[in-house]
Amino acid sequence: MKAIVINNYGGPEVLQLKEVATPSLTAPTQVLVRVRATSVNPLDYQVRRGDYASLFELPLITGHDVAGDVIAVGEAVKNWRPGDKVYYSPRFGGQGSYAEYHLTDESSLSKMPEHLSYEEAAAVPLIGGTVWEMLAVRANLKKGDTILIPGGAGGVGSLAIQVAKTLGAFVYTTGQNILREQLQHLGADIVIDHHQKNYLEEIQALTRGKGVDVMIDTVGGSTLSDSPLALADYGRLVTLVDIARPQNLLRAWEKNATYHFVFTRQSREELHPITRLMEAGQVKPVIDSVYPLEDIKKAHQRMEDAKRDRPLFGKIVLSV
Ligand SMILES: NC(=O)c1ccc[n+]([C@@H]2O[C@H](COP(=O)([O-])OP(=O)(O)OC[C@H]3O[C@@H](n4cnc5c(N)ncnc54)[C@H](OP(=O)(O)O)[C@@H]3O)[C@@H](O)[C@H]2O)c1
Repeated sequence: MKAIVINNYGGPEVLQLKEVATPSLTAPTQVLVRVRATSVNPLDYQVRRGDYASLFELPLITGHDVAGDVIAVGEAVKNWRPGDKVYYSPRFGGQGSYAEYHLTDESSLSKMPEHLSYEEAAAVPLIGGTVWEMLAVRANLKKGDTILIPGGAGGVGSLAIQVAKTLGAFVYTTGQNILREQLQHLGADIVIDHHQKNYLEEIQALTRGKGVDVMIDTVGGSTLSDSPLALADYGRLVTLVDIARPQNLLRAWEKNATYHFVFTRQSREELHPITRLMEAGQVKPVIDSVYPLEDIKKAHQRMEDAKRDRPLFGKIVLSV
C-alpha cells in the first residue's frame, strides 16, 4: 500500500511517500479499513518533529483521523461488516492514518454519518472527541454560560464554537478580521481579532470586569497564568496544550477557578454526541482545504506557516 513514512524526525521534508506492506488481521476483534480520507492535526507535526520520540520507534506512519470503508473483519467482530463506512481516531502510539489501509480494533469504530463525504467525515474524529470532552464532560458548559474560545478559526475552535452554541452558551472567540463573518456564521456572538487586540483585556471590557464562565486554551504559552484575567469567579478553564514551562496560578486561586487538562486518546464515546449533532444538522465539519495524500508536505507547510497568505479556516483534509 501507499503510505507516508517518517524515517527521521524533522520538518515536512521527512514525510516520504513509500510502498509498504499492507497490514492484515492478526486478532479476532480487529478490522481492516481502506482509508479514503484523513486530516492534518497539530499532533501530526508534533510527532513528525520528534516531540513524542520516547513513545515511538522509527520508521513510523502518523495521522490521527480516518474516514473509510471496512474491508475485512476478524471472526469475533459482530457489529461491523465489509462495506460499512466508518470514521475514527486511531489509537495514539500505533500506526497512523497517512496510508491506504489501517488496522484497528473494532472498539475504535463509529459509523460515518450518511450525509457526509469521506473528506468531511475525516475532518472530525480527533477534534470531535476533544471538543465534547472539553465542553460537555469537563467544563459542564450549559445554557446561559459565557465561553471564550481562542483560535476560533482553527480545527478545534471552528467545531467548539458550533457545539458551544448547541449547548446554549454565549460565545466569544478570536480570529482575524477577514474571517469575522465566517466565524459569526458558525455561531460566534463576538469576534475579537487577536492580531489587533489583547483578547483577555477585551473580554474584561466587554463583560464589564465580570469575565467568562468558561475558557478553553488552544494557544499555550502563558495562557494558564494569564487567563484568570478573563475568567469569572468560580470559572472553569480547559487546556489542550502541553505546558512548556512552569506557570504561576496565583490569579487562578484568587478567582476560585477550576482547571482541567485534556490530552485526547482514543475517543469513540466522546465522538458519539458529535455524530448525533451532525446528523441533526446542528454541527458541520469546516474544511479549509483538501490535498491528495501525495501532497502531504504542502499540507503540513500550510498548517505550520504562520505567515500564510490566506488564514486557516477549519481543517486541512487529505484524500487517499
Ligand atoms: N490535548 C489534546 O488532546 C488536543 C487535541 C486537539 C488539539 N490540541 C491542541 O490544540 C491546539 C489547537 O489545535 P487546532 O487543531 O485547532 O490547531 P489549528 O487548526 O492550527 O488552529 C490554531 C488556531 O489558533 C489561532 N492562534 C494561534 N495563536 C494564537 C494566539 N496567540 N491567540 C489566539 N489565537 C491563536 C490560529 O489563528 P491565526 O492563524 O490567526 O494565528 C488558528 O486559528 C494545538 O496546539 C493542538 O496541538 C490538543
